[in-house]
Amino acid sequence: MTATGGGRNGAANPQPRCARLEGVSTRIHLDPSFSVADVDPRIFGSFVEHLGRCVYTGIYEPGHPSADEHGFRGDVAALTRELDTPIIRYPGGNFVSGYRWEDGVGPDRPVRLDLAWRAKETNAVGTDEFCAWTRRVGSEPMLAVNLGTRGVEAAADLVEYCNHPGGTLLSDRRRANGYTDPHGVRVWCLGNEMDGPWQIGHKTAEEYGRLATETAKAMRLVDPSIELVACGSSGLAMATFGAWEATVLEHTYEHVDYVSLHSYYREDSGDRGAFLAAATDMDRFIESVAATADFVRAKGRHKKRIMLSYDEWNVWFPTHQDDNAEWAEAPEQVQNTYTALDAVVVGNLLISLLRHADRVRMACLAQLVNVIAPIMTVPGGTSWRQPTFYPFALTSAHGRGSVLHSVADGPTYSTEPYDDVPVIDQVAVCADDGSLSVFAVNRDQREPQRLELDLRAFPRLRSAAHTVVRDDDPMATNSAAEPDRVVARDRGTATVEDGSLTVVLPPLSWNLVRVT
Ligand code: AHR
Repeated sequence: MTATGGGRNGAANPQPRCARLEGVSTRIHLDPSFSVADVDPRIFGSFVEHLGRCVYTGIYEPGHPSADEHGFRGDVAALTRELDTPIIRYPGGNFVSGYRWEDGVGPDRPVRLDLAWRAKETNAVGTDEFCAWTRRVGSEPMLAVNLGTRGVEAAADLVEYCNHPGGTLLSDRRRANGYTDPHGVRVWCLGNEMDGPWQIGHKTAEEYGRLATETAKAMRLVDPSIELVACGSSGLAMATFGAWEATVLEHTYEHVDYVSLHSYYREDSGDRGAFLAAATDMDRFIESVAATADFVRAKGRHKKRIMLSYDEWNVWFPTHQDDNAEWAEAPEQVQNTYTALDAVVVGNLLISLLRHADRVRMACLAQLVNVIAPIMTVPGGTSWRQPTFYPFALTSAHGRGSVLHSVADGPTYSTEPYDDVPVIDQVAVCADDGSLSVFAVNRDQREPQRLELDLRAFPRLRSAAHTVVRDDDPMATNSAAEPDRVVARDRGTATVEDGSLTVVLPPLSWNLVRVT
């Protein structure tokens, strides 16, 4: 593989690190008997934060030609359904750490300063509108509670408001607000990134562990059926990483079900080989957090096992708009324009999540609309799919079933942060009907690579359809003017011969091979 090209600004990559691999194949052996785990569809979750234009002029825009009777954009709802995201986190993110949920329900909606993003929050959309919208788009809400400026009481109150059937002050308030049926919110995040000094109400691991425990207990007293996520580190690079998870879980172990992970990737100093290895970083992060959770389990002689909620992940690079809020309403913030290259990396990160289906039970692509998002909108105007939309939608559509152990044999390359990065990274999912979906990324920037599948254990599989996301120009993007430059394209079919299938993966590409 040749590490060429440059960063987003075209800077040359100073250090080609990879050996050439012409004519080399990666061979994987698959067997339906060797399953990692069934995929929890909630790993295809997404995220809507009160940030930039995600809510206002994103999902919600009364007066837009496509708006429904509730003021939500019909075009965005249709794209959200197409994205096939079964759970959506809300309302933050950093925003939640200064949020008063009561501002966003009922007839009186105060305008507030959003201290996290320095914007003006009208509260026109709140918990009721969001929960009802998620159901309309075929999804379910995952709500975060404020453990920055608030605590036990506000969190327990919100559970009562959302989930209690009626006959109490807060559940009757919901009914009076027009929501007779409880919202039935199953999954709750105990704060957001509380390890981060940028977080409003940032805490030490001890402080957070105690508060999360007491909050979890009170929330569960209101509704014992809820699932709870404790905040893990907001990134593998945090100085407190590891120790944070251990301390927090020592406090919360018996009171929560998941610990969270967050990470964002970008191409730094033109090191494309390292950017393409983002999924290797994600693999390590997942495996380290799982090991830490298991250490706490062993130390505390706990029976249950803590699962992982990777509830923020994406490619994210700084843009010129990011500091432009200054108390504006729905300012343009964090509006990344994604490239074909970013789509390959996003698709690869999904491969890592699938590979860890035994531990990662939920994950949220951050975010859904306009803000580091697969869906973009023009206020009052059109909407379009970013290149990253395609690997996500296709993985969500075809990545349901049982993840198989795949024994891979193929070339690797080294980058500054990682050794032994596979040139082809892949995962296979066997559906209930016996068909197989193989998701694969070719990280080679110049050369096509052959992927050989040993399918002798699948005697009934005959032929394969190959779909690709890539572009001759890795920096190609979609826009309102050219919405379909980077899309998923059919690349033909292949036949299984003598239990073996070979597909050629173009350079810098994300691939779906569906074998039926
Ligand atoms: O997704 C954008 C921001 O990234 C979130 O608000 C925060 O949790 C993270 O740092």
